[in-house]
Amino acid sequence: MNSNVRPDTMKRITTKELADEFIAEQIADIRAQVGDKKVLLALSGGVDSSVVAALLIKAIGKQLVCVHVNHGLMRKGESEQVIEVFGKELDANLIYIDATDRFLDLLKDVAEPERKRKIIGGEFIKVFDEEAAKLEGIDFLAQGTIYPDILESDGVKAHHNVGGLPEDMEMELVEPVKLLYKDEVRVVGSALGLPDQMVYRQPFPGPGLGVRCLGAITRDRLHALREADAILREEFDKCGLAGKVWQYFVAVPDFKSVGVKDDKRYEGWPAIIRAVNTVDAMTATIEEVPYEVLHKITNRITSEVDGINRVLLDLTPKPVGTIEWE
Ligand code: XMP
Repeated sequence: MNSNVRPDTMKRITTKELADEFIAEQIADIRAQVGDKKVLLALSGGVDSSVVAALLIKAIGKQLVCVHVNHGLMRKGESEQVIEVFGKELDANLIYIDATDRFLDLLKDVAEPERKRKIIGGEFIKVFDEEAAKLEGIDFLAQGTIYPDILESDGVKAHHNVGGLPEDMEMELVEPVKLLYKDEVRVVGSALGLPDQMVYRQPFPGPGLGVRCLGAITRDRLHALREADAILREEFDKCGLAGKVWQYFVAVPDFKSVGVKDDKRYEGWPAIIRAVNTVDAMTATIEEVPYEVLHKITNRITSEVDGINRVLLDLTPKPVGTIEWE
């Protein structure tokens, strides 16, 4: 039977008991496949790669080498969380690479969205490749492939995901969650003891804040975007919207408007809030965020974030607007 086809008899994993059963099976399978060899994993901190990492750590401990590449376009606190959870709490074999300068130098003055995406994706593979070449005796490559990735026959995710890795890497694949749907991966992640913040994370595009810092990325505007986005997430957490809204974020365009602060002229960028609900990301509707929450977020962003002097709300459903701005 093709191991990429989910058997009809496979129960949907909805409870901790079913997840524990799945985990026990996978641990046995992984040990049988890998033996005493080493496995490499690109750990982004997203749900899928995090769950794969946690499973492999349980199964083979230090035989797993996790590489976390910080491309400088992560949201606030994300790389730190990967280090905290995997490096410290789970005591994983974790290599952390801060490649921020490499990425931002390459992206300097590049305004065209598709070129930005290509640069980020290409550089990611390069950094990962260089790191893999430094390691010796790695026979396996683990990946957080999930069932919808296999079903998407046009391979959309495979080629526009930053996690896409070079095909010429001569390593056998370990893909323990490849027959699971996203909701099942989350149940397994919780059963493995990963923090909710990681397991119930909203989707985040591979190119990260790179596609939300619109046009040519500058470090100061990227910093402002990261801080404004962190405030939005914090306030959505506080008012309960975080668990309800499918995806929410800030985008910061490459233009300024006139404002006034402390009785002085204050030019700044606008922060655009987008909060959408969807089932499959093909279409999306707008979450009706209460005005009270919007006022609070506006106050905080304009007073706490250097360089931002207005907050705008994107009311456009998909279609016509895509979820991301770029
Ligand atoms: P759009 O903007 O096309 O986005 O309506 C649909 C969903 O896909 C995410 N997205 C990406 N994910 N790499 C990814 O891994 C990308 O280049 C990318 N572009 C968009 C987007 O965040 C939304 O959830």
